Amino acid sequence: MKIGFVGAGKVGFTLGKYFQSKGISVVGYFSRNITSAKEASSFTNTSCFESINDLVRNCDALFLTVPDNNIRDVYSSLSKQAIKGKLICHCSGVMSAKEAFDDAEDFGAMICSVHPLFAISDKYKSYCEIADGFFSVEGSAFGVKLVTDILKKCGNDFQVIDKSMKHKYHLSATIGSNLVVGLLDFCISTLVDCGFTRENALKALTPIVTNNVKNVMENDVVNSLTGPVERCDTNTVTKHLNCLSGEEKEIYTLLSKRILSISKVKNENRDYSELEKLLEGAENEK
Ligand SMILES: NC(=O)c1ccc[n+]([C@@H]2O[C@H](COP(=O)([O-])OP(=O)(O)OC[C@H]3O[C@@H](n4cnc5c(N)ncnc54)[C@H](OP(=O)(O)O)[C@@H]3O)[C@@H](O)[C@H]2O)c1
Repeated sequence: MKIGFVGAGKVGFTLGKYFQSKGISVVGYFSRNITSAKEASSFTNTSCFESINDLVRNCDALFLTVPDNNIRDVYSSLSKQAIKGKLICHCSGVMSAKEAFDDAEDFGAMICSVHPLFAISDKYKSYCEIADGFFSVEGSAFGVKLVTDILKKCGNDFQVIDKSMKHKYHLSATIGSNLVVGLLDFCISTLVDCGFTRENALKALTPIVTNNVKNVMENDVVNSLTGPVERCDTNTVTKHLNCLSGEEKEIYTLLSKRILSISKVKNENRDYSELEKLLEGAENEK
């Protein structure tokens, strides 16, 4: 299968170079700016196309690696006759294949969305790391078959999901990456309030944060959970609540309620009713 890329950015560079390294044929690139397409084609030793429809004619599978907002416009600019019998994919985590390529199947194309659950930050270096990347795949039956065959050949893990789940799936990725940043900011600024420099706060938190994430990923949440909520240490939770107000108190209370339900699974004979009342009271204070 010969693959062509529209969009010579971080993902286009990375997947192109990576697929090639796994013996999958890459034809070349078309991009909004010819200089980007030239740069990607010289990085991958493939062709640079000046017209999108020339690229389509020369490949069996087209990866639209453009920003999410531009996927539909790029798809609209394709010659619909030329996509017959071809695979057309995009890499958005939140859009389904059908949402992007609404009538492509009517023109005989196979459609797919293939999302790397991976931060691809460097056009030139990320291809070295993507072997560890987990992909989610969704689309028409043949589209999914072709893309999962590519991923199997590359040796990457993947999960096929239903198109109705794309928004919820992307929500999970956002919680795991971006919202964790928000929580870490809360954690760091709390130490700064105690007199730590930001640099020292980061240094102090590195072992506890990284070991915690490692533990959860290796042993799942029930086995990893420790702390005052899990121990049902109501005096400590009261002291914490007294340090907090407003939004931060809400975040602490709601997350504590979340881990309370994990604690109940972990210690099914422990009586958490007093702690439950304490957290309900803090939540109702708003
Ligand atoms: N980066 C990540 O970590 C990551 C992870 C998972 C999924 N994704 C998904 O991958 C896709 C691409 O993201 P990215 O990070 O690679 O973005 P990016 O680095 O901004 O690259 C996008 C490229 O698309 C090109 N482009 C924009 N509009 C175009 C158009 N109308 N026609 C042709 N080319 C156009 C731009 O080309 P020019 O340089 O020519 O202007 C740019 O180089 C998105 O759907 C994103 O959600 C990204």
